Amino acid sequence: MAEPLEISGLVKTYRQPVLDYLDLVVSGGVFALLGPNGAGKTTLVSILTTLVRPDAGVARIGGVDVVRDPAGVRRLVAATGQETTIDDLLTGHENLVMLGRLLGLGARARARADELLEQVGLVAAAGRRVSTYSGGMRRRLDLAASFMTQPYVLFLDEPTTGLDPVSRRRVWDDVRTLASTGTTVFLTTQTLDEAEALADRIAVLRQGTIVADGTAAELTALVGGQRIDLLDADGRLVHSVETDGSAGSVERALAALAPHQRGLQVSLHSPTLDDAFVALTRDHEEVAA
Ligand SMILES: Nc1ncnc2c1ncn2[C@@H]1O[C@H](COP(=O)(O)OP(=O)(O)OP(=O)(O)O)[C@@H](O)[C@H]1O
Ligand SMILES: [Mg+2]
Repeated sequence: MAEPLEISGLVKTYRQPVLDYLDLVVSGGVFALLGPNGAGKTTLVSILTTLVRPDAGVARIGGVDVVRDPAGVRRLVAATGQETTIDDLLTGHENLVMLGRLLGLGARARARADELLEQVGLVAAAGRRVSTYSGGMRRRLDLAASFMTQPYVLFLDEPTTGLDPVSRRRVWDDVRTLASTGTTVFLTTQTLDEAEALADRIAVLRQGTIVADGTAAELTALVGGQRIDLLDADGRLVHSVETDGSAGSVERALAALAPHQRGLQVSLHSPTLDDAFVALTRDHEEVAA
């Protein structure tokens, strides 16, 4: 059976290679793509949503080829970031009703619009023109628009950038709800807590290919085990020793300290996804031109 997303040998070059023979299969759930600025995340999403053509390689959504049958792919996917579908002169409510009708919801469009405005917390602003919305409100309307029908694959390119913490969590809940009903979610994000909170699987894009792929715990394990950090009175790191976290290993590490180090503060540091991301992307800083 076709996977929700299959990519093989995908190439896209602008002035330099952006995607360089990229291979990836996503079998469902919530998938998060991480990568430094300019790594090619948006380019990949644009190819998968048929806005940009790849130079070579194959990408299929549910078995449908993005180059050969873009219209077929568009029936299967929804994406945020396509603010062109939102008309500034209409209210939030009018926008969603119009979109619902365009998507064939007919008489149900109005009820679905009400439901979505409630879900993204825009009920109070529903009757206002979008031109008066703040950046965060526009983004929430954009998200609501992408939730209008239940897509087979939903692409979210940095869905919570610019949102306050409460709105962010609301979006996370919406994404989880949608994922639990069977939609495959393809998410790009700069914030690792978002990847950790939402994704079943995380991949890191660097120099045009996937350099690491796994659960948050698997990626975190790549940067090694726990460490015992020894800090001076000002909180500066003086010494750091690797440990497996057991009492015995902590005891041995402390026993090996020199007498003058006995006054240092001890802190047990478990690697985080942040540490993994920094390590995986450290020796090559892509620069968004
Ligand atoms: N239409 C275009 N024409 C020329 N170069 C482009 C175009 N679109 C993207 N690029 C280049 O391709 C590279 C990847 O850009 P892309 O926007 O895909 O990165 P990104 O991973 O989404 O970055 P960010 O985290 O900053 O959103 C960048 O170097 C960018 O300048
Ligand atoms: Mg981007």
